[in-house]
Amino acid sequence: MKCICSIAAAAVLLGTASAQSFRRLGACPTLGCVFPPDQADFLAGQYFDIRLEVHQPTNGSEAIGLPLDERFTFTVAKKGASAKQAVEYFKIQEPKLEKWNFTYFEDLFARDAKRPSFVNVAAKAYRRVALYEPGEYTATLNYNNGSKTEATWLVRDLAEERKAKNIILFIGDGMTTNMITAARLIGHKTINGKYQTTMAMDKFPVLGHQMTHSIDSFITDSANSAAALNTGHKSTVNCLNVYADSSKDAFDDPKVETIAEIFHRLTGGRIGIVSTAYIADATPAALVAHTRNRGQYAAIVDTFLNGVQNYTWTKAPIDVLFGGGAEQFYPPSLGGVTYQNKNYYEEFAKQNYQILQNRTSLLAAKNTEKALGIFTVSNMAKWLDRNVYRQNLNQSLSPTGSKGPALDQPGLKDMTLKAIDILQARSGKDGWLLMSEAASIDKMMHVLDYDRALGELLELDDTIKATIAKLNSTKSLKETLILVTADHGHGFDVMGSVDTQYMAAQSGDRKKRDAIGVYEQSGLSQYINTGNLTYTDSNFPSNWDPRYTLFQGLMADPDRRENWKVHKNGPRVPARAANGSTDYYASPSDGAGGILLNGTLPVENDQGVHSLTDVPVFAMGPCQEEFGGVYNSPDIFFGMAKCFGLGRGTPPKTGY
Ligand SMILES: *[C@@H]1O[C@H](CO)[C@@H](O)[C@H](O)[C@H]1NC(C)=O
Ligand SMILES: *[C@@H]1O[C@H](CO)[C@@H](O)[C@H](O)[C@H]1NC(C)=O
Ligand SMILES: *[C@@H]1O[C@H](CO)[C@@H](O)[C@H](O)[C@H]1NC(C)=O
Ligand SMILES: *[C@@H]1O[C@H](CO)[C@@H](O)[C@H](O)[C@H]1NC(C)=O
Ligand SMILES: *[C@@H]1O[C@H](CO)[C@@H](O)[C@H](O)[C@H]1NC(C)=O
Ligand SMILES: *[C@@H]1O[C@H](CO)[C@@H](O)[C@H](O)[C@H]1NC(C)=O
Ligand SMILES: *[C@@H]1O[C@H](CO)[C@@H](O)[C@H](O)[C@H]1NC(C)=O
Ligand SMILES: *[C@@H]1O[C@H](CO)[C@@H](O)[C@H](O)[C@H]1NC(C)=O
Ligand SMILES: *[C@@H]1O[C@H](CO)[C@@H](O)[C@H](O)[C@H]1NC(C)=O
Ligand SMILES: *[C@@H]1O[C@H](CO)[C@@H](O)[C@H](O)[C@H]1NC(C)=O
Ligand SMILES: [Zn+2]
Repeated sequence: MKCICSIAAAAVLLGTASAQSFRRLGACPTLGCVFPPDQADFLAGQYFDIRLEVHQPTNGSEAIGLPLDERFTFTVAKKGASAKQAVEYFKIQEPKLEKWNFTYFEDLFARDAKRPSFVNVAAKAYRRVALYEPGEYTATLNYNNGSKTEATWLVRDLAEERKAKNIILFIGDGMTTNMITAARLIGHKTINGKYQTTMAMDKFPVLGHQMTHSIDSFITDSANSAAALNTGHKSTVNCLNVYADSSKDAFDDPKVETIAEIFHRLTGGRIGIVSTAYIADATPAALVAHTRNRGQYAAIVDTFLNGVQNYTWTKAPIDVLFGGGAEQFYPPSLGGVTYQNKNYYEEFAKQNYQILQNRTSLLAAKNTEKALGIFTVSNMAKWLDRNVYRQNLNQSLSPTGSKGPALDQPGLKDMTLKAIDILQARSGKDGWLLMSEAASIDKMMHVLDYDRALGELLELDDTIKATIAKLNSTKSLKETLILVTADHGHGFDVMGSVDTQYMAAQSGDRKKRDAIGVYEQSGLSQYINTGNLTYTDSNFPSNWDPRYTLFQGLMADPDRRENWKVHKNGPRVPARAANGSTDYYASPSDGAGGILLNGTLPVENDQGVHSLTDVPVFAMGPCQEEFGGVYNSPDIFFGMAKCFGLGRGTPPKTGY
């Protein structure tokens, strides 16, 4: 929850306080805006909305003294053909003119002086159109009596043959190559430099790198990056499968159809969503939600069940929905915050979902029926707390809303394997698409709880291993494309080791730094080498609390105290502020005996932030060769669409 509070707070500040975000409207540098903007790529037949805006800044540096021009026109032309008015091109009715206004700050000085700039807007939206013919298009907005904005759009030419029956997309939220390397070090044993076992990810035949940046900022959040993976369209921070317009309504922004929606519309294939986050969180939401504000959790839960409200749009029914976030399901009478105050356990049950609230009932659920599994309030318990420090499960997080503890929570592996069983049983020849997210790699990296983050990563790897074995044993491995990737990174790495006993015994931060061992003094991993495996799976550490730990950390932090020891009492809280304040300092109760380190982030940050790094993409199965090399995040959408044979907006020719 902490992670999200902070992201939501950042969202509120967008346009008011974030460095480098002082733009009128991210992807619209001129006074005439076309969304999708210049350089957008489309799948043939992919539904999308077009939003046009004409801006009249009344003051500030961009004011040009023109009245608001409501007479703009918009044309579309395929390369080599003549331009047509959009109504004629898409055979739709002219939409009504909308008008609104907004303010923004031009820079930090304007913010500090509380001098916003004011903009009047005239706008139109052409809803749910599509381009079917591959090739290049020019979309032209003529406005202000002689100005124009041109957008070049590309409809990619993709094969129509279907190569994969199923796709499973594993997302290690925030997972980087550096984290995988660290997880391997603590989870797998070496003898004289040779690993005796390796990660399941290490065994994938194809490795690529994807670039995660946003359309209008080089650091992304999980909503925007998930939108790129799901639609092939990059967008703005906090956006789920829409381009950000300047209107206040979080649901009227121009939508783009997702891989789940297209796949179901064209093939009848089945959809499953699994996450260790609260289920309305950005990565799971991104399969079907369309909103400019990822914080609209209650509406997102309704979208899982009923599809997009208030607009004609594709509905992709969800057969499997497993995760946390019970507070968006149980009714307000129990403290829930739900869409239109309904009880979403009851709403799902009315539409014939099995309702599962613990691991025992998950494992016993029928494979032939749709299933909603919500196992806790908020994010699910971390692997380390479920398996090693179980006393931390004793919190008022029961998914029923009873305020009791949620002691019987499944892990990512339980949820993913059950999701596959249900999807296999229900999809028949149509196949399925499953997204399975290890959400708390990110959430625990945010709070600098490296051990919990790496535990989540090892759980993801264990899940991948079990998934491959299951698909293999049911003869469906060869017809299933397995992708493992991330949505963005954190600036994490390991630089050496720490003698935690020596550090605790020293006084003075400069002397304590002697406990850090670099190069040859880093030694060997103490997490796995005891040969005494406490856990049934050998790919986890046998000792999370060795004397010699990893000297690890992030590139950008709040103030904090580091002792580089495992946090036995639950997820770390590195920084705290006085009540009512956003001025964060190292938490007095965190990192006992460690070194006090000043942060580098603005002081209202209580946790770490995402970073720029490209993230790995592991691919195995049909079309695996599409995913090697270095490419942009939307290419993953196009690779999946191609593999499913969705290239022409018609049911694919089956080939798998
Ligand atoms: C801005 O929009 C609001 C709400 O639509 C409206 O009440 C207000 O009068 C507008 N402000 C100006 C200066 O036009
Ligand atoms: C622009 O106009 C708004 C509304 O009248 C005012 O609050 C703001 O201070 C003005 N900003 C500048 C930069 O002049
Ligand atoms: C548009 O611009 C032309 C010349 O650039 C001018 O003659 C005409 O009066 C303008 N029309 C309007 C409505 O402003
Ligand atoms: C849909 O419209 C209804 C009626 O105006 C409104 O109450 C509801 O909040 C809207 N839902 C969304 C998701 O925008
Ligand atoms: C698990 O859920 C089932 C069905 O709701 C319930 O009967 C059972 O008591 C639950 N078990 C635990 C350990 O909470
Ligand atoms: C669980 O927490 C409650 C309230 O904090 C406490 O009274 C109880 O002893 C705890 N139980 C266990 C098993 O830790
Ligand atoms: C699949 O199972 C077969 C037969 O048990 C085995 O030989 C093969 O190595 C397995 N493949 C994978 C990728 O696990
Ligand atoms: C393994 O762990 C058990 C229980 O902690 C301990 O009794 C035993 O001595 C350990 N064995 C080795 C070989 O370290
Ligand atoms: C902060 O204020 C709230 C409500 O006023 C209070 O419940 C809480 O204990 C306070 N926390 C601290 C750390 O002082
Ligand atoms: C941390 O910053 C404070 C000022 O905010 C400064 O007094 C202190 O010396 C710094 N500590 C370190 C370890 O740099
Ligand atoms: Zn994050």
